[in-house]
Amino acid sequence: MKVIIVENYEEASQEAAKIFINQVKEKPNSILGLATGSTPVRMYELLREDHEKNHTSYKDVKSYNLDEYFGLDASHPQSYHYFMYKNLFNGIDIKDENVHVPCGQGNIQENCDEYNKMLAENPIDIQLLGIGSNGHIGFNEPADVFEEYTHCVELTQNTIDANKRFFESEEEVPRKAYTMGIGTIMRAKRIVLVVSGEDKADILRKVIEGPVTPKVPASILKFHPYVTIVADKAALSLCNKQY
Ligand code: PGA
Repeated sequence: MKVIIVENYEEASQEAAKIFINQVKEKPNSILGLATGSTPVRMYELLREDHEKNHTSYKDVKSYNLDEYFGLDASHPQSYHYFMYKNLFNGIDIKDENVHVPCGQGNIQENCDEYNKMLAENPIDIQLLGIGSNGHIGFNEPADVFEEYTHCVELTQNTIDANKRFFESEEEVPRKAYTMGIGTIMRAKRIVLVVSGEDKADILRKVIEGPVTPKVPASILKFHPYVTIVADKAALSLCNKQY
């Protein structure tokens, strides 16, 4: 795992944006794996700005998002579908038919099968990840095993607590979500994990310095041949190796 050390969230966003912009310039029909959460918000803003100023085009790009809440319609303001349009897709020239976010409604097995089929036919060139303070990537929560494919998960209390800030009350936070499996994430050709802030310092130390275990889902990234961690100094502050 290559670690790019930056000062703060702004620099982490700039670095990550640069990587994605270069990817799209080098391969205009890239397949991007995208993430939600607060971490990528500034990076997405930078992609929008770059599209406006430098005309980097996403017209041949396809995107696949990591996850979606179960039970939320795409038009729900807290759905990840809505988040992606608001933060990125409305500001770039990606085609609607090339945008994919797991469907939050309908039959669970059918939704998972359909997403898995699309992902098998469209291998991801570069996957963006954030990390939960419990080590989750996508909504792959700490567990006894690594799940390979898209599945529906029960969210842990840690994740519900972390995400309630986006909802009016904790009761409104969905208890289940769809997520790409760890196997699919690991089949991306390149993975970029962006980590910012001291709240993530403990988990980032476990990922970088601890053993590979499904109890810390992101620890599996050690086994991937091309991972770039973009982390700020606060996020790296508990690592024993001096960054
Ligand atoms: P955050 O969430 O970017 O809002 O910290 C990351 C995650 O839970 O994957």
